[in-house]
Amino acid sequence: MTFTLTTPLYYVNDRPHLGSAYTTLACDALARFERLRGNPVMFITGCDEHGQKIQRTAEAAGLSPQAHCDAVSAQFQELWQRWQISNDRMIRTTDPRHRSLVEQFFARVQAHGDIIEGRQQGWYCVACEEFKDDPHEVQDPECSIHRRPLEWRDELNLFFRLSRYQAAIEALIVQEGFIQPASRRKEVENFVAQGLRDFSISRVNLPWGIPVPGHAGHTFYVWFDALLGYLTALLEPGDEADLATALSRGWPAHVHVIGKDILRFHAVYWPAMLLSAGLEPPKRVYGHGFLTREGQKMGKSLGNVLDPVALLDRCGRDALRWYLLRDIAFGDDGDFQQQRLVDLVNNDLANTIGNLLNRTSSMARRWFDGAVPPAGATRAGDHPLAQAATGARDSVIASLERLDFQSAAQAALQLAITANGFLNERAPWSRIKQEGASTGVGEDLYAVLESARLVALLIAPLVPDLSGRMLEQLGQSPLTSGVPKGLLSGADDPAASLDVPWLERLCWGGLDPGQLLPEPQPVMARLELDAPL
Ligand code: MSP
Repeated sequence: MTFTLTTPLYYVNDRPHLGSAYTTLACDALARFERLRGNPVMFITGCDEHGQKIQRTAEAAGLSPQAHCDAVSAQFQELWQRWQISNDRMIRTTDPRHRSLVEQFFARVQAHGDIIEGRQQGWYCVACEEFKDDPHEVQDPECSIHRRPLEWRDELNLFFRLSRYQAAIEALIVQEGFIQPASRRKEVENFVAQGLRDFSISRVNLPWGIPVPGHAGHTFYVWFDALLGYLTALLEPGDEADLATALSRGWPAHVHVIGKDILRFHAVYWPAMLLSAGLEPPKRVYGHGFLTREGQKMGKSLGNVLDPVALLDRCGRDALRWYLLRDIAFGDDGDFQQQRLVDLVNNDLANTIGNLLNRTSSMARRWFDGAVPPAGATRAGDHPLAQAATGARDSVIASLERLDFQSAAQAALQLAITANGFLNERAPWSRIKQEGASTGVGEDLYAVLESARLVALLIAPLVPDLSGRMLEQLGQSPLTSGVPKGLLSGADDPAASLDVPWLERLCWGGLDPGQLLPEPQPVMARLELDAPL
């Protein structure tokens, strides 16, 4: 069954920022992991292009909304290419097929008796594209997230009868694993316990949206339209705009990965809309935390927003991916700290992992004819490093299954630390000088090289470039199943199709004695940032 995972569909009111890159990176790691272990994957990202916020931004820039959306969504597209994000789809909600799917979906919901007319009165935040009901916000009409004035609205709209789904949503959200991490579940439970109220799904006097069939002057509320983007995205490039076809391509989603601020839409509104249309809700909604920068909220007004393009130029893909995935517990808020980024990249990647491989392959080449030394009994699974490797593999897999990228990174790193410790203890550089020590030294080097090979495989979903360089240094074939064909440099290489699956390659003893080792090259340059990012 296809493993469908999604990032949020990003608003195109502004250029991409680190917050959007963060979710996409995490999803990329998850998508690569699932592909590596042999699952067909549908990795969806995209842009949310309708609504008042976008309309106003385009007006302010003197552009038509469509021209504005084209320009900003191209920036997202380019960013994902530069980060080598392995997405299978990049949906834009201005795609003509999307409009058709929204109409089909609406027809189902309407046929189910879940659309009624009503009057919508309340305080609205255009930046959130959401009515606010928090009493504090309503007393002092300002959005607590955006710190901008709320706008009073009083409109005759169409409503979705969410209140009918109270029991169904209550039953859904208590299901083990539906809302993750578990710490976020309470917040949704409290919201649902207050009683679900019908919500308006159309707007009047807002031309930049999808027209509601049969209701002249109404366009769909941007969230109603945007969530359906996850379904449109499932369509193959040549498919007709047909809801049933889309669903057959990979619904229900295994996981929607989102920021905690939009959990309510994904864990309450969206499942209810799907149930109304007779469709299955997603299996899991994962609400990650927010990134701050050096302890401060990131925002335009503070002038401290981190630009993912500039970051990539200064630090490179491996450094940023490693830092963001390894340092920040995915479900929690995290603080981006430049010094910590430098320290972790240099300690973990350049020193612990990079040097382990570099110094061991140098020794092997020097003393064993440029090749992997004979393994003797070391190739058997009872070697202490073999046991450490098995533990690391199990832990990486279990961690990635629960989107715990931090623990996965730490488990892979731990194997490198253990191998370094073993090497220091065995001190092959002094033993090699002793008569008759060559066999033992060779076996030790074999065990360490084999550990380095396994580290390379284990970090592949997290830092694929570094993993690839390590495998190359060990004379190993590249991993081909972590990325879709379009991103594979050696996709036409017939050897690629003979690639042994990742899970099989993860077994101890895979390195062949006698395998020639290339000239050692540092796999990870030290990161030096002399000026603030
Ligand atoms: N368009 C809606 C999503 C519709 S999904 C059908 C939207 N877009 S957004 O561009 O405003 O936000 C996209 C994501 O970025 C959200 O998941 C949000 O939580 C996340 N982040 C925004 N700022 C962030 C940080 N500072 N840190 C981490 N993630 C952040 O909402």
